[in-house]
Amino acid sequence: MTALIDSWQRQINYLRISVTDLCNLSCVYCSAGSLPRLSHDDILRYEEIQRIVRIAASMGITKVRLTGGEPLARPDFVKLVRMISEIKGIDDIAVTTNGILLAKYAKELKEAGLHRVNISLDTLKRERFKQITGGDKLADVLAGIETAHQVGLEPVKINTVVMRGKNDDEILDFARKTITEGWHVRFIEFMPFGSCGDEGVETVPTAEIQERIKVLGKLEPVVGPAGNGPAKYYQLPGSKGSLGFITPMTEHFCATCNRLRVTSDGHLRPCLLGNDEIALKNTLRSGASDDEIKQLIQQAVAIKREEHHLSGELAPEVVTRPMYQIGG
Ligand code: GTP
Ligand code: 5AD
Repeated sequence: MTALIDSWQRQINYLRISVTDLCNLSCVYCSAGSLPRLSHDDILRYEEIQRIVRIAASMGITKVRLTGGEPLARPDFVKLVRMISEIKGIDDIAVTTNGILLAKYAKELKEAGLHRVNISLDTLKRERFKQITGGDKLADVLAGIETAHQVGLEPVKINTVVMRGKNDDEILDFARKTITEGWHVRFIEFMPFGSCGDEGVETVPTAEIQERIKVLGKLEPVVGPAGNGPAKYYQLPGSKGSLGFITPMTEHFCATCNRLRVTSDGHLRPCLLGNDEIALKNTLRSGASDDEIKQLIQQAVAIKREEHHLSGELAPEVVTRPMYQIGG
């Protein structure tokens, strides 16, 4: 088995694939519902995604995360999970979802070979959920979380993007859920893309979030639930769950970056927050050999930058592609 090593000696073993730019919500920091969408032909076909994963697996990719838009909103998504689960060498298949369709599909997804889910949820209040996401779907998301547990898509993690003045008054409510419900909650620092209609959304630094949580007790560092991402995990006294913190803005984790992305329109993207990309789809569709595809994957790894420039001395860099085509 070969390994994919970038110019900074990082081993790349985690592939994130955005399977659609469509979403059934329209969140304030993503605006996925309101902008022009890619055409059917622009989007990678399932057979193409499967081929990319198969080739990437032969190069050292062992973890796959399917994202969107909203991945479960793409027709026959269960079929794609099954196709990927058949690939030798992939030992972790995960999905990042808004959870709305999870109660409906969790069981089938589990049977198709999905291991686990991360569910985006920024508020526990029905009215606010409507304001943030544009949909009256909080009950569906909560049902999705419940069903994911029931069918064993473990660990189930909750992703909460903390936004000043919009949901930061719910930090303690989410933190308490790790005690009362055993949830694994991750607080994410909002990343200002600048291309998603996210003007007016303000990041809350993790240090401030942790300070506010202190009223619930001391945060003890723990290993945390299984995963391949950048979260650092803690536990509150009496908690069966965990609290994770994802700090792209105040303490970036680029030195340990292990990932490569495929956008919904078939570009290899070495960095979430960097605009360099390698076009893959047209090559795939022109009858290219596996070796030619391998070369493109190697090129994408070779141009991975040392770190992102959304914060720090070189900031601000505008991310030209919207989040819902990259998938987070
Ligand atoms: P686990 O394997 O469960 O740890 O997954 P993950 O945390 O890698 O995936 P998820 O899709 O749940 O992402 C959580 C948050 O981390 C999202 O806000 C992502 O945008 C952010 N994130 C993931 N990867 C990167 C990255 O490479 N760079 C930056 N800056 N943020 C990232
Ligand atoms: N900053 C931080 N996190 C974001 N997400 C989407 N947009 C942003 C942003 N601008 C989160 C979603 C989802 C994950 C893939 O990324 O809430 O949980």
